[in-house]
This record gives sequence, C-alpha cells and structure tokens, in this order.
Amino acid sequence: MIQATQQAGQAGCSLLLSALAGEKTERIPFWLMRQAGRYLPEYRALREKAGSFLNLAFTPDYAAEVTLQPVARFDMDAAILFSDILVVPWAMGLHLDYVEGEGPQLETVTGHRDMARLDFRLKKLDPVFDAIRLVRAKLDSDKALIGFAGAPWTLACYMAEGGGSHDFLSAKAFATTAEDDFDRLIDMLTDATIDYLRAQIRAGVDAVQIFDSWAGLLPEPYFSRWCTAPASRIARAIKRDFPQVPVIGFPRGAGENYAAYARDGGVDAVSLDQDIDLARMLEKLSEKTVVQGNLDPQLLLQGGKAMEEGIIKILETAASRPFVFNLGHGVIKETPPEHVAELARIVKTYRRA
Ligand code: CP3
Repeated sequence: MIQATQQAGQAGCSLLLSALAGEKTERIPFWLMRQAGRYLPEYRALREKAGSFLNLAFTPDYAAEVTLQPVARFDMDAAILFSDILVVPWAMGLHLDYVEGEGPQLETVTGHRDMARLDFRLKKLDPVFDAIRLVRAKLDSDKALIGFAGAPWTLACYMAEGGGSHDFLSAKAFATTAEDDFDRLIDMLTDATIDYLRAQIRAGVDAVQIFDSWAGLLPEPYFSRWCTAPASRIARAIKRDFPQVPVIGFPRGAGENYAAYARDGGVDAVSLDQDIDLARMLEKLSEKTVVQGNLDPQLLLQGGKAMEEGIIKILETAASRPFVFNLGHGVIKETPPEHVAELARIVKTYRRA
C-alpha cells in the first residue's frame, strides 16, 4: 500500500486506457462526468463536514475520499479527480467563492487592465496534487485516474462574467471587441492549463480531459481560434512530455464543429454531448479518434426503460469502434443513485456482437 509516491501511469492494464489507445475492448469501459457529487449521500455528508466546497476540494484527504466514493459504490472503470475547473483562475489570483444555491462567483476580468494582475502560481494547487497521490495509492491498478482542466475559452467565460450564465454575453463582448487582448488572455490560460495538467500527470493521473463546456457558444471563425487551437496547443505540449497519456477533449455543444475539433485539436478522444447523433457523427470522425459519451443525463435521472433503451442504443451504435461509455454532460444532482447502479449493470454486462 505504500506505492503512494510513484510516478505517472500507474494504472496497470486498465480497460479505459486500452480503449483510449484505440483498442476495441471486449467490454466497453465507462465512467460518468460529475460521478462524484451531490446526488450521493456520502458526498453530501462529507461536503457538510468540510463546510465549504473549496475546503472540500483543497483538503487532500477529503478530495481523495470524494473521488473514490462513486467507484466504491458503482465500480466504474475510472475515477475522476475531485476538484473544479475554476481553481485555475483562482490560482491566477482571482477571488473565488461558491455561494449556496447560486454556483460559483469569481472576480471578473473584462479587459487588459484586469489581465495585468493575473499571475498563475502552480504551487497554490499543491493540495490537488497531494489528493492525486492519495487516490492513486488507494485506487485498484486496473482502474484509471482521470485528471482534468477547464478549456481556456470556458475559463474565460466564467472570468468575464464573474460566474455562471446561459449565454456569457460579457465574454463574447470582450472577445469580439478586443480580439488581441482576448487572444492574450486565451494564451495565458493555455499556458497555465499546460502547467497544471503536466503537474497532475507527474502526481499520478493516467489520462486528462479538457472541459470546454461553453464551446457551443462560439461560431466559426472563433471556434477554431479559441476552442480548437488552444486544445491543440495543450494536447501537443502534453504529448511532448508524456506521449503515453491520452487527452480527451469535450467541446460541449460544438455540433457540426465536432469533426474539425477532432481533426485539428490534437486530442486522442472526443467526448460527445447528448445533442449529437452518434451514428452520424461516427461517420464523420476519423477511425483514429476514440469516442466517448453521449447518454442524455436526463435519461439517467428518469431511469427505467427509457434509460435502458438509450444505453443499449449507444452501445450498439458504437460497437464497431473503440468507445468509452459516458454521459453527454454531468450527472444531474437529483439523480437517484439506484439509476447509476442500474446503468453500471447494463454497461458491464453488454458484450459486442
Ligand atoms: O466530474 C467529477 O466528478 C469531478 C468533479 C468536477 C466538479 N466540477 C465538481 C463540482 C468537475 C469535473 C467539474 C468541472 C466543472 N466545473 C465544469 C465543466 C463541466 C460542466 O459541468 O460543464 C464547470 C463549467 C464547472 C464550474 C462549476 N463548478 C459550476 C458551474 C458549479 C456550480 C453548479 C453546480 O453543479 O453546483 C460548480 C460547483 C461544483 N463543482 C460542484 C461540484 C461537485 C457543486 C458544489 C457543491 O457541492 O456545493
């Protein structure tokens, strides 16, 4: 058990890593975005003990425990590090708070004057790397540990807006009225993300996912410039130092732009949201791109026959390719845990024809 401080890539023969390497694994591996969180009573108990979300995320013992909770219950093929995408802007010096019932609140960055104050300190994220080491020591070697970061565009959305939104008009206003400054902000976030993901890999994560939750807000030519190009820079920088570590890109809502992102974004795999028609998208993607997703989280919330049919349809459609089963977005907090148990049972017993 004292293997805690070894190097990256500790998952031995993990089904998830085999699939991400392009193998048509006999059983299709699965994990769920936001698999740790408020739908689990054991999460809510620890969240209450921690007092605040930030204290939960930045106390390595707590973060490690929360990361492992869903895997202990449902036996997913991977754990995803418990943290949040907004810790990167926080480590750049922006004040961050999670307000009960309202979501995150972040100090705003709406132009070059605010940008002058940004100063990314990787050291501030040491508790995250400690949590990774703790998880890797406890996680079975046939399970992968996934690290993650927010994509530069999505981080910039929260920074410009100061919190959540449906349309992030302040980010779009900043981006389109001061393009050069915005390019610089995206560059700063890309550099920070590269440092952050590399440090996660050194601490022991086996794969990384880039969450571009608001990619769907950008039409071309902005999509290429602020979603695909930064993803490509991040993926290439990781590959240079850690060629064996797969990179999953999740440009949520990208629609028709998914194929270009998969082609030019430098990622090994793309995660598809639930609005994408899986069969049609598979025709457009190169054989080399591994696919993940795309069950509607609403079906998981509802459970029953509709969920079962939705799961089977995805598994059948993807059966001819390397594939990772997942949701199209995160687990909804009202989801009954029994539905997740049922999903796990269905995915684990399914075999390719
Ligand atoms: O997937 C996992 O299980 C790992 C943990 C994880 C969290 N956030 C924990 C969290 C991950 C991967 C994220 C990513 C994240 N955070 C994204 C990208 C994915 C997506 O959902 O689109 C975004 C946009 C954020 C920003 C964020 N953090 C928002 C908008 C919120 C509030 C909304 C909400 O769901 O509460 C958070 C807070 C947050 N991050 C919680 C959790 C479990 C809830 C906090 C709580 O328990 O009070």
